Amino acid sequence: ESKTLSDVPQREQWGSRVAFILAAAGSAVGLGNIWRFPYVVGTNGGAAFVIIYLVVIFLIGYPMMITEMSLGQKTHKNAIGAFKDLAPGTPWWITGALGVLAGFVILSFYSVVAGWALAYFFKTLGGSLGVGTDFVGTFVGHITNPGVTVMWHGIFMIITLGVIAAGVVKGIERTVKFLMPALFILLLALVVRSMTLPGAGAGIAFYLTPNFKELTPQSILGAVGQAFFTLSLGMGCMITYGSYLGDKEEISDNAAWVVGLDTAVALLAGFAIFPAVFALGFDPGSGAGLAFITLPGVFAAMPGGTIFGAAFFLLLAVAALTSAISLLEVVVAWVVDEKGWNRKKASIIIGVLIFIVGIPATISMNEVNFQMFGMPFFDVLDIFQESILLPLGGLLTAIYAGHIYTAKRLREDVARNKSKIQLGEWFDGLIKYLVPLGIAVVMVMGWVDI
Ligand code: PHE
Ligand code: NA
Repeated sequence: ESKTLSDVPQREQWGSRVAFILAAAGSAVGLGNIWRFPYVVGTNGGAAFVIIYLVVIFLIGYPMMITEMSLGQKTHKNAIGAFKDLAPGTPWWITGALGVLAGFVILSFYSVVAGWALAYFFKTLGGSLGVGTDFVGTFVGHITNPGVTVMWHGIFMIITLGVIAAGVVKGIERTVKFLMPALFILLLALVVRSMTLPGAGAGIAFYLTPNFKELTPQSILGAVGQAFFTLSLGMGCMITYGSYLGDKEEISDNAAWVVGLDTAVALLAGFAIFPAVFALGFDPGSGAGLAFITLPGVFAAMPGGTIFGAAFFLLLAVAALTSAISLLEVVVAWVVDEKGWNRKKASIIIGVLIFIVGIPATISMNEVNFQMFGMPFFDVLDIFQESILLPLGGLLTAIYAGHIYTAKRLREDVARNKSKIQLGEWFDGLIKYLVPLGIAVVMVMGWVDI
């Protein structure tokens, strides 16, 4: 049967500017801010690391954010389709393909950690993490119990695919409009609780006093890696979200809002965590276990700890959900646009596939010990995204946008709509030289390190 133009479903668009900012900020604000940022700060000398991180966010993160959003808006296509449209008949689409792969890989272990957060929300609420609990034993017991972790990973993936199946406006937009304000309220309540504990000053001092001696070349590497991950950059996520923007929407102010909100949440997460950790005599340098081992101990010892502990893990799960939906959307948008799949079918099939790939990551920490290259499969996935997928995707995007598409043309695209922040020639310099060079150096240093 023949189709007329009006039979072709129109590509969805964000309902408002605020909806777009909340969705993109929802993607950015995630486990990277609340789980990863504080422990990376804790193991890299506190404020000294924070200063480097802020410089990287400003010089690399913000220009990349503008670039990705603008390429998406220009093409109204998914990560792969955008490059196919802009550079037809060339291999540049591979940049987008790396992004789709990254969405798949990141979500398969992201959902595992999100599942831990959901489980800990119920554990805290149920009062099973009181004073005197063996917190290390509880955490190890939890993550090495395949039945339980696979179940929570599955529950989280079902929620995620449910949102994406419902569509951009009815799914993503409706969810972030409700969850993002809730997230800010939960976070502020935790900051106030933590900063008003007797002895909180020591934690504030640790967080705000730079200790440059603890900085290593690895810290700079860590800051760049953290910047890409936390801003959802280098994998076509912001291309995909930008593709649902109307042509009249401006980019440079919106990008500043998203970068600003993500940075604010990361910094506030530090104020929610370090004062409490110090006030109750714990060690901030405990690494990845900070959120799941140290903090439950902190909450157990704190007045009102059950409520604040539950609030913390709910915050973590909510932040993870608004990021997980953006990861799934990158993959789903590709098969919907390029392969003509129906959105519901695409969400279910891809969601289930990601659930399956995540299973070895879930059980890689137990007796079955699913290892690859001598490490837990979970770590393999994380190192793969951090040292190859995101930096390579970011590097190729910056080279393409700066030199092939050209920074000047990109700047003209952005200037078409009125905004407060005007991109000057400084933008060209950043996207053409500083961003790609910075990424390349850090990526190669990272490989030498591995
Ligand atoms: N930005 C998210 C976080 O900080 C993670 C993420 C990375 C989400 C890449 C989407 C794409 O947790
Ligand atoms: Na983030």
